[in-house]
Amino acid sequence: MTRGDWWRHGVVYHIYPRSFADSNGDGVGDLAGITSRLDYLNDGTPASLGVDAVWLSPFYPSPMDDFGYDVADYTGVDPLFGTLADFDRLVAGAHARGIRVIVDLVPNHTSDRHPWFLESRASRDSPKRDWYVWADSRPGGAPPNNWMSAFPRAGPAWSFDHRTGQWYLHSFLPQQADLNWWNPEVRRAMDEVVRFWLDRGVDGFRIDVAHRMARDPELRDNPVVAVGDPDDPTGQARAIRLAGTGVKLFDEDWPEVHEILRGFRRTLDAYHDRMAVGEVYLLDLRKLARYYGSGQDELHLAHNFVFLHQPWKPEAFRSVVDEYAALLPPDAWPAHFLGNHDHSRVASRYDEGGNGPARARVAAMMLLSLWGTPFLYYGEEIGMLDGQVPGDRVVDVDGRDPERTPMQWDASPGAGFSSAAPWLPVGAGAERVNVAAERDDPTSMLSLYRRLIWYRKGSAALRWGGYRSLPDAPASLYAFVREAPGERLLVALNFGGEPVRWALDPGLGDSSRLELSTDPARRPGPLRPAELVVGPDEGVILQLGQPLG
Ligand code: GLC
Repeated sequence: MTRGDWWRHGVVYHIYPRSFADSNGDGVGDLAGITSRLDYLNDGTPASLGVDAVWLSPFYPSPMDDFGYDVADYTGVDPLFGTLADFDRLVAGAHARGIRVIVDLVPNHTSDRHPWFLESRASRDSPKRDWYVWADSRPGGAPPNNWMSAFPRAGPAWSFDHRTGQWYLHSFLPQQADLNWWNPEVRRAMDEVVRFWLDRGVDGFRIDVAHRMARDPELRDNPVVAVGDPDDPTGQARAIRLAGTGVKLFDEDWPEVHEILRGFRRTLDAYHDRMAVGEVYLLDLRKLARYYGSGQDELHLAHNFVFLHQPWKPEAFRSVVDEYAALLPPDAWPAHFLGNHDHSRVASRYDEGGNGPARARVAAMMLLSLWGTPFLYYGEEIGMLDGQVPGDRVVDVDGRDPERTPMQWDASPGAGFSSAAPWLPVGAGAERVNVAAERDDPTSMLSLYRRLIWYRKGSAALRWGGYRSLPDAPASLYAFVREAPGERLLVALNFGGEPVRWALDPGLGDSSRLELSTDPARRPGPLRPAELVVGPDEGVILQLGQPLG
C-alpha cells in the first residue's frame, strides 16, 4: 500500500555540486560529475543508496562570492558546473532512475553583478531602483538602521553606494543585494524563474532563506538585548536568533512572507506533483509551523533547524519532535535533517572522546525512522567528518569549509573526486572513510545507510505511518512507535554509553522481531519483548506483534 506524495515518503539527498564529483579535472565538482554518479544514488537495487530525490545547491552563473548563493543569472548554468544541456542530461538520467530533482531557488537576494542590480544601482530614477531595498543615511551619515548581516564578518547589513548616495540592504554579503519583495514586478520576475525550471522538468525547489523575503517596510531598528556579549558585539540579531527567544525582529519573518509563499504555491500547484521545501531558519517551532500555512497553501515542507541544533540528548530530540507534531496544521509533514552545507557534520558535531562515528550511526537510524521527510547531506552516508582546512586554504567567509570538503569516493589522493587538486582539501581519514572501502563491508556506515533506506522503502509504517513517542522508556533512550495498518515498529535509540535493559510494556505487543540494529554484530531475528537490551550507542528497530489484551 502506498500513500501520499513522493516528497512525503522519499529520502532526499543533498548535493553540494562543487564538492560531489569533478568530471573535467578542474578541481571543482560539476553537473556531469553528478550524472556520472547517479547509479551510486539509486540504480533500483539495494546495492545502491536508494535515495528518491536529490537537492542541488546552486549551479547558476555566479561570481561565487558565496559559492553560488550569489546568483547573477537565475536561468543559466555557471560554466564551472557545465551547461544547460548538462543540466537536462542530469534531469533525464535522474528521472530514468526514479530520482526526483530539487533545485535551490535563492529569491531573497541576487549577486551585485546581476543585471537587475546593475540597473538598480545605476541611478535613483532607474526603473529597477525599487527592485532592491535602498534607503537614505540617518543623520550623521549612519546606515539606515541597525540591521546586521547574517555573517558576523560582513558587519552591518547595509552598504553605501557613492554614486547615488544611498544604502542598499544585504542580509548576507555586500555582494548579495536583497530584493524588494514588496514590489510586484519582483514577484512576477521570480515567478518566471520558477516556471522556467518547472518547464525544464525539475520536481521542486529548496527556497533559500524563505523567512527573510519580507521584512519591516518601515525599516525599524531591531531591539538590542544582549549588550556585552563578545560573540555578539552589536547586542542584537544574532543572539536573539540563536536563542530563539521569540523577541520580535524587524528584518525577518514579516507576516507578508506568507503571502509570498502562497504565490509560489499557486504556481507549483499548476504543475503536476511539484514541491517546495523552505530553509526557514527560525529557531522557534511555533513560527516554523506557520510556514505550512493551512497545510495546503504554503510550503510543502520546512527544514526544521531546531531539530538540527539539539544537543546529543534523547529528551532534547523527543521534545522537539513531539512539540512540533502538536503545532503542525493537519496533513502537514515535517522535514528532518542533521546536516547541510552550513553545519558541522554529524560524526564531528556529536563527538565526545571518539564516539562520534558510533553516534552518527544512531543519528542515521533516527533520521530514517522518524516521521517526516529525511534530508541527507552528501558524505554523511559514509560517515565523513568535518575536514581540516588550514588557514591558507580557507575560502568561506563564515567558517563553513570543513563541511564542504570533497566527497570521498576512494582512497586515491583526490579521493576519486577529482584528478586535479580539489578546491578544498580532501578530509583527513579519506583513505578509510570512502565509498570504495565501504561498499562491500557489511559493517560500514554506507551499508547501514543502505539497509535503513531500503528497509524504509519497504515499510509503510516508516514512510507515512503514525508516530508516537514513549516518554516512559529508560532515560538514555529515545523510543517511539511507528504504525500503519498491519505494521507496528518500535524504534529505540540509545544516546548513552551504557547498555540499557528494557522490559517492554506488554501493551506494546506480545512478540517482536529485531529488524535492524546499528550494531553490525547484531543479527535480525525473534526477540522476546521482555528481554530487550539496547547496547551503548546502539539503535534498534523492532517489529511488534499484536498488543496483549
Ligand atoms: C542560506 C544558504 C547559505 C547561504 C545563505 C545566503 O543560508 O544555505 O549557504 O550562504 O543562505 O544565500
